[in-house]
Amino acid sequence: MKKIVICGGNSLSGEVEIHGAKNSLLPILAAVVLASGECKISNCPPLSDVLTMLDLLRDIGCKIEYADQTVRIDTRSIHNYSMNDGLMHKLRSSIFILGPLLARMGKAELGYPGGCDIGIRPIDLHLKGLRDLGVTVTETEGHVLCSCSRLQGSEVYLDYPSVGATENVMMAASLAQGATVICNAAKEPEIVDLQNFINKMGGRISGAGTGRIVIHGVERLEGCEYSAMPDRIVTGTFMIASALTKGEIFIKNAQRECVNVLAGKLRDGGCEILDEDKGIVVRCHDRFKASNIIETMPYPGFPTDLQSPMMTLQTVAKGTCILIENVFENRFRLTGELKKMGADITVKDRMAVIRGVEKLKGATVNTHDLRGGAALVLAGLAADGITVVKDDGLIDRGYFELEKQLKALGGEIVVLEE
Ligand code: EPZ
Repeated sequence: MKKIVICGGNSLSGEVEIHGAKNSLLPILAAVVLASGECKISNCPPLSDVLTMLDLLRDIGCKIEYADQTVRIDTRSIHNYSMNDGLMHKLRSSIFILGPLLARMGKAELGYPGGCDIGIRPIDLHLKGLRDLGVTVTETEGHVLCSCSRLQGSEVYLDYPSVGATENVMMAASLAQGATVICNAAKEPEIVDLQNFINKMGGRISGAGTGRIVIHGVERLEGCEYSAMPDRIVTGTFMIASALTKGEIFIKNAQRECVNVLAGKLRDGGCEILDEDKGIVVRCHDRFKASNIIETMPYPGFPTDLQSPMMTLQTVAKGTCILIENVFENRFRLTGELKKMGADITVKDRMAVIRGVEKLKGATVNTHDLRGGAALVLAGLAADGITVVKDDGLIDRGYFELEKQLKALGGEIVVLEE
């Protein structure tokens, strides 16, 4: 258990560099299985989810060297098509290995990755997409056995633009016979990053970032070197931190086009968003004006992963915000913790009505999920007095050295490990 002790009230200012994106690295690390050779992935911070994914790759036979945020993975000795249940349960995104393992070995066996606090997170769309590619899928008591002599290109229609299902089908189709078209594909920037990585290995994918992705299967893929994109959710978290503390933060290497919707909301609330040649400055001198309505939706809509940090900002904004969470069914556990700090929030199903208060007050609060945990740290920065955020390693899943970076910007934060 980690206790993050925060003394609120300081405005954050200075510059911060954004690390590699968790939601880009996890599918890319799975995709290395498609190539028989060595891949070198840089801009890869030791996030706990990344470390778990590397454990999964070792477990199926990969040789891994990892230092200075660069990982070398040699897949030539992969021998195991059955994925470790314990690791599967630790990391939902382990499902990304399914497609590549099938394409590589013709077989894959796994336990259900399980849900997490934000929802049950089924994998039906992943399995439907693979069945469309000719995979035989057998589901028995919590286990899934997939087999396929040779994947066949096909048209895959996703009922919902699932990020993970889009990525799994993209990866499997890269080594299929013939062409695959994914219709109603997810458009997230991390999918473009995955397309670029697979094409660097010799793949032939186009259309990522749109709702229609075309994959021409190839005979084999080769190891390559690649650097992951900066994390747009971490970028957005620092943008919100600046607005929340009436600060001025220069976010280096931020990709402005990936945070447009958030930038628009922050500007509407009174922030200045300045485009610099290598990043963005977010400046806010007055109390933020509440956003009338925020609805999370698939990219390019407002990202569900920034819903929790944005909720924190709204709790001390001038006015009332209606926040609707359309993507995950259980992403409001944060509200109970923010109420301990004096927030005025009413929740009904997927809607939260947030009435801004002048100030939150410090309290002891608990994290329930990754983004909610980051949102509580932000709340502590804006609150009067001392806040203690009790965290069981959830924040480290997706933020590398968050407390250290906030401290460097002027936040009064101490981390106590227990
Ligand atoms: C990815 O999760 C991200 N994770 C999530 O980030 C992100 O919130 C989500 O996309 C939406 O942007 C990674 O990329 C590693 P989905 P994923 O499939 O792929 C339902 C974070 O905090 N669904 O687009 O699991 C699902 O239940 C994490 O960094 C099915 O019904 O998201 C959810 O309601 C959290 N069947 C919705 O679709 C399926 O087979 C969106 O899920 C798959 C998904």
